[in-house]
Amino acid sequence: MASKLKIFSGIQPTGMLHIGNYLGAIKQWLILQETSDCIFCVVDYHAITVKYEPEEMQQRIFNAALDYLAAGLDPKKSIIFVQSHVPEHSELAWLLNTVTPVGELRRMTQWKDKISYEPKFEISINDSDFRHLKNTWKVINENILNGSNDISNITNRISRATKTAEKLLDLVEGMLEFDAKLNTIKAGLLNYPILMAADILLYKTHIVPVGEDQQQHVELTRTIARKFNSQFGETFIVPKAQLSQAQRIMSLADPTKKMSKSLGPKHYLALTDTPGTIREKISRAVTDVGSEGGEMSPGVKNLFVLLKEFGAPAEIKKFESAYADKTIRYSELKEALADAIVKKLNPFQNKRADLAKEPKKVWKILNDGAKKARPIAQKTLAEVKKKMGL
Ligand code: TYM
Repeated sequence: MASKLKIFSGIQPTGMLHIGNYLGAIKQWLILQETSDCIFCVVDYHAITVKYEPEEMQQRIFNAALDYLAAGLDPKKSIIFVQSHVPEHSELAWLLNTVTPVGELRRMTQWKDKISYEPKFEISINDSDFRHLKNTWKVINENILNGSNDISNITNRISRATKTAEKLLDLVEGMLEFDAKLNTIKAGLLNYPILMAADILLYKTHIVPVGEDQQQHVELTRTIARKFNSQFGETFIVPKAQLSQAQRIMSLADPTKKMSKSLGPKHYLALTDTPGTIREKISRAVTDVGSEGGEMSPGVKNLFVLLKEFGAPAEIKKFESAYADKTIRYSELKEALADAIVKKLNPFQNKRADLAKEPKKVWKILNDGAKKARPIAQKTLAEVKKKMGL
């Protein structure tokens, strides 16, 4: 009999999950747990690669577990645990550090986004400005040396030179800020995808159900697995990413960007948002950006993606024809979408509120999950260490 496919995935405990996390990842997990050997992890080690408050972390982990369970992950069908409860993750990550080229890490889009810096100031100084600045100083010096009292011609010069100097000061300030940013970024942020590779490879995973933004990290995991296998002998399964239909949900307020908690509350819909908040955020969703050449604008496209996920087939059809006929009214589309989301999230929110009253039960599920995950992780790690001569 063919053995079941092994699935691994995880979400960072950010305090609350948004509908991007649900549609990109969790929705796939719910389907997969019915047929495969699934392991789902709250990846707290990943969440400490950026600034955070240690005293909030346990609550954030608990909230993520509530979201997992309320969404329908079933501890009888899947292993659900917290990454830091299984120390083999960080040990394997270290070992994989020794086979991963730094160049591969630097190529990661998420790393590039995190270190990128949007200059506040334009470089609008040109060579003639510089020459003018230098010459102005020369003229001032000469006038002082000559004891000249004719300052009328100097005043104008100084005015232009001062503007150039101010721009220069702005540039220096920008550069210092960038330097400070570079110096505060931690090695963990660069090495983060290696820990993700360790998470996946530790369980000899076949399929990694994730949103599109994590696809590149799974590609890197494949590269690391192949490198290890060719250097030390066949050990790891080379896993594949699996994307959902709604693999990239965009921000409501800026639909050119991926929905993410870090953009701010108006950009995302949290699974725990109240009906009032959901209606408010959707009613303000941007619908008119970038509609060029007759193409659907990114904001409208995003609303249709959401309607396809949450709405009833007849409703989806109705709005699609209205769009095609150009009779669509976005206020109606938004209202229908908000209704559908509120309806869908209602049972989730009730279940979550009930579970929140039983913290002991939730922590027990996580502890039991770690007890099941650990022997699998230990077995792989022992094999890896042996192959590496350790
Ligand atoms: P994280 O915590 O940022 O996101 C969790 C999952 O949600 C998906 N996602 C989205 N999908 C569609 N549209 C969006 N706007 C959107 N935003 C987020 C992500 O693709 C992801 O599937 N490094 C990972 C966590 C991780 C992991 C792993 C995942 C650590 N180890 C091992 C899989 C396997 C992360 O930060 O995801």
